This record gives sequence, C-alpha cells and structure tokens, in this order.
Amino acid sequence: MQHNTDILIIGGGAAGLSLALRLADTLHISLISKGILREGSTLYAQGGVAAVLDPKDSIESHVQDTLTAGANLCNEDIVRFTVEHGAENIEWLIQQGIEFTRTTNNKDYHLTREGGHSQRRIIHAQDASGRAIETTLEHKVRTHPNIEIYEHHNAIDLITTAKMGKHCNNSCLGAYILDRKFNRVEVFHAKHTIVATGGASKVYLYTSNPDTSTGDGIAMAWRAGCRVANMEFNQFHPTCLYHSDAKSFLITEAVRGEGGILRLPDGTPFMKKFDKRAELAPRDIVARAIDHEMKRLGTECVYLDISHKPAKFIIRMFPTIYKRCLELGIDITKEPIPVVPAAHYTCGGVVTDINGQTDVNQLYAIGEAAFTGLHGANRMASNSILECLVFAQSASKHILKQGKNKTDNIELPSWDESRVTDSDEEVVVTHNWDELRRFMWDYVGIVRTNKRLKRAKSRVNLLLKEIDEYYGNFRVTSDLLELRNLAMVADLIIQSAIDRRESRGLHYTLDHPNLNEEDKPENTILRPMGFVPKT
Ligand code: FAD
Ligand code: SIN
Repeated sequence: MQHNTDILIIGGGAAGLSLALRLADTLHISLISKGILREGSTLYAQGGVAAVLDPKDSIESHVQDTLTAGANLCNEDIVRFTVEHGAENIEWLIQQGIEFTRTTNNKDYHLTREGGHSQRRIIHAQDASGRAIETTLEHKVRTHPNIEIYEHHNAIDLITTAKMGKHCNNSCLGAYILDRKFNRVEVFHAKHTIVATGGASKVYLYTSNPDTSTGDGIAMAWRAGCRVANMEFNQFHPTCLYHSDAKSFLITEAVRGEGGILRLPDGTPFMKKFDKRAELAPRDIVARAIDHEMKRLGTECVYLDISHKPAKFIIRMFPTIYKRCLELGIDITKEPIPVVPAAHYTCGGVVTDINGQTDVNQLYAIGEAAFTGLHGANRMASNSILECLVFAQSASKHILKQGKNKTDNIELPSWDESRVTDSDEEVVVTHNWDELRRFMWDYVGIVRTNKRLKRAKSRVNLLLKEIDEYYGNFRVTSDLLELRNLAMVADLIIQSAIDRRESRGLHYTLDHPNLNEEDKPENTILRPMGFVPKT
C-alpha cells in the first residue's frame, strides 16, 4: 500500500505535534507514532519549560546559564536563537489552551527553578507539565481535518534517492512504515519528512524514559546518510525514584529548585562538598556526585528530602510525585525520597541547521532526536521542550517557504519480503536487548574508562553482526526494529566516547579526568560511510 502526503511527521511528542499544528492549515500531514499518540518522553516531563518570562530575568542570563551548563561546547548563535524565541513559543502554547500554574494571588504564572538556572524561569503545570502540553496538543491534532494520525505504526527506514541508486543530490522521499496491527509494511511518500522520534535513553538499563526512546530516528537518519554528533553526551538525571515497584519514575529537579536537600543514608547533606551551587549545580555534576557517594558507601541509593517544607506547599507543587510516592508507602511531606541517577536525555543526535534541515534534502530532524548545538556537553534542565517548540517553529517556516517540490511523480519501490520468513527464535531478540542495555550501563555509564569502552565496542560489534543477519533473514517485528536501532545508536555512543579524549560535561572518563584546555573544544561529528556533503 502507498500513501501520498505533503508532510510525513514521524513522532507525536512536543516536537512532532507542534510542527503538525503549525503546518496543518496549509498542508496535508501524516503523523506517525509507534504506540498510542501521546506515549513518549513529553508525556512524562515534570519540571516545565525554560523561558525568559520574568521582567527581572534577561535573555543574556538564560543564554549564559545554558552556555555554562553546556561546558563551553554549545553553539552560541543557536543558544541565543532558541532563548530569544522562548517567550513567543510559551505564548503559542497558552493559545493552544495549556493551563500553566499561577502564583497564589493568581496574578502571574508561577516560575520554578532548576539546576544551572540562575533565575526562576521554568513555567510549569504543577509537576505534570509534559502531560498538560502533550494532551492539549494531542486534542488539537486529533480534531484538525488536515492531519491523519497513524498510531501503532513503526517507521523502519527512510526512503532516499541514494538508496534507490539515483545519482542526484540525496533526497528523502518518505519512509517504510510497519503497521503493527496488520503486520504489513506500507510506503509513505512525502514531499518533506520529519524525524521527531525523541531520544535513545532506552539504550541504558536504568532510565527515566518510556519504552519509545529507542533512538529510531537517529539510526534511520544515519542509515539515510546524515551526520550524527555528540552522542557521548547522554544525560543521567540525578534523581529517579528508587523503589522495586516503580519503573522509570522521575523526581523532578524542581524539588531541589524549591529547597530539596540530597542526603546520605545517615541524613548527612553532601552536595556542598562537590559544588558551591550544591543541589542546584548542573545535572552532570549532581549525578556524578551521587554516583561517587553511592560507590564510596556501597549504598543502593541516596535520599532527596523536602520534608522540611510545609506539607501544604509540597502537595500543591508536587501532587503527582506526592501521590505516586504515597502509593508506594513514602510520605514525602514527612520523610526523604530514595533516589538514584538514571539515563534521561540524549544531548547528541542528527546534525541539523537552524531550520531543522539535515544533510539529506527534504529531511528534517527536530526535538530530542536532533543535534542543533543548543545543549553542548550537558543540557540545562527544561531547555528540551523549549528546543522542541522553537525548532518546530523554524522548520515550519522553512517548509512553508519552499512550496511544492518536484518529487511528486517518483514511483517508490515497495517493501521486499521475498527472501524472509517468520522468526523461529524470538529469544535472540530479547536476549540481545538485555545484554546491550546492561553493558551500556556498566561500561558506558556515568564514569567511563578506555578499557570499559573497548569492551563495550567489541560487544556491540558482535551484536550488530548478529542483528544484521537476523534482520536479513526474518520478517520485521517492532522489537527487532528497535533492537537494530538501539544497537546502532549504542555503537555511535561508544564510538563518540572513544573519540573524546577528555572529560567534559556529561562525558567523564578516569583515563582523561580533566578538560582538554589546550585545543578549541570540538563537537564529535560522525559521518556515515560514503557521506556526501549537501551542495
Ligand atoms: P518524544 O516526546 O519522546 O516523542 C517521540 C515520539 O516519536 C513518540 O510519539 C514515539 O512514539 C515516536 N517514535 C519514536 N520512534 C518511532 C518510530 N520508529 N516510528 C514511529 N514513531 C516513533 N524536558 C524539559 O524541557 N522539561 C522537563 O520538565 C522535562 N522533564 C522530563 C521528564 C522525564 C521523565 C523525561 C523522560 C524527560 C523529560 N524532559 C524534560 C525531556 C523532554 O521531555 C524530552 O526531551 C522531549 O519531550 C522530547 O520530545 P520529542 O517530541 O522530541 O520526543
Ligand atoms: C525534571 O523535571 O527534573 C526534568 C527536567 C528536564 O529534564 O528538563
């Protein structure tokens, strides 16, 4: 089956939904998500969105805080562009109907604070900001006549002129998509294709992310001929709930922003030992400090304590966390919360320009899947949804300016299943999933060494070979597709980590524990085989 559309958006998070809404009055949109539309990291975002909204704050201050958190590796032009477009994008969200939390006198929006921010500048909807954003935009998208939604559809690979053997500038013509319900692969032919598939933190055993974060878009874009950058900078959030019955539940940084204190099991606060900003140091520093203390004491977690604040305030600010913890027997108004770091955010991704354009014509990447240069070596809290919104806006302007392009009549090859059969050994896929995520956690985690990275590299090489054979012989399933992408992304992370011979931001290695101050800091840019720069 072949679908023809103006715009193919792969991903229904903050990036994909806001782009769809910005284009839908003019163009026909096909919006793909591999599960139900709302499932993705956006839904689980707690803290909020960073933007300069307080007259006492300034663009310059937000820019400088972002540059500092990014450890001298951010692209300052991109940082400035993003920050300058913050307030108008918050206004856009409010116009879509999102109700952000107000101050107690109801006059203004309440702004909270998170690590790395020198000001209160995080607009939020209590502690469930992502849910408010995702569900409001979802409702808009579902009721728009120009947007066709395809849920439970896995994008497999992008279709490009290079893959079709055409000797012209490499252009994207759409994608092969697995309809999970009917287990058949369909062709989507599009004038512009947008990768908005989120990050890849599922590559690690412990993560704050939902199951969707398997780096599919990054792997697809890489296979299509795009450069990928800074994959060594995977962010570990310092405070995920540590409880055997809680999978991937975050304790927002805003808890620390509102006065939460990190304590050792005996109650001693420890963050001042590591950084004078203490609990409000950027995430890389806090996560490493926790990791250090846990290893030093051999404990399974540390504790985040907000119980010294009035119970009424805690319940008003953090109702979701209060409720979830209470269900698990922890009353956060009276006792500290057990927490551990977990993989949280992919700072690297598909290289794009200021309009979200990739190295392949007619292919864009936005949101967590993209590398715009905003985050450098460490993303500052709540700058991610901001990036989703700002780059959805700039990509939409760029797409609208271009009008119709010339690919309309190209016949696309259908998916070839003539040489595959149904798998008789699904256990291989499950086993490889587990192995990959465990060695990434053990060898490519918060603290790295050359030896661990080398070990990880040889493991991933074996897995890639095995998965490739499996992929070539058997009919695709969504587990196999995700595993194939995770392994590819793991390889990109390991390769980038090996290439960076210093410790900077989120990349910390015992073999090179300091910043390389001699050379100008560079991004780690990987090029796929046969890479041809766009002309
Ligand atoms: P996502 O929201 O992850 O959406 C990805 C979409 O792509 C999903 O619809 C998924 O189904 C789809 N998809 C993926 N692969 C495929 C495929 N192969 N085929 C079809 N569809 C596919 N950031 C902030 O700025 N502020 C916060 O307060 C904040 N809190 C966070 C809390 C948590 C628990 C987490 C996990 C993240 C948080 N972040 C926060 C980060 C932020 O939420 C994400 O970076 C951002 O929401 C990513 O949006 P996105 O649209 O790029 O991707
Ligand atoms: C949080 O609320 O701590 C997450 C914020 C973010 O990841 O930006």
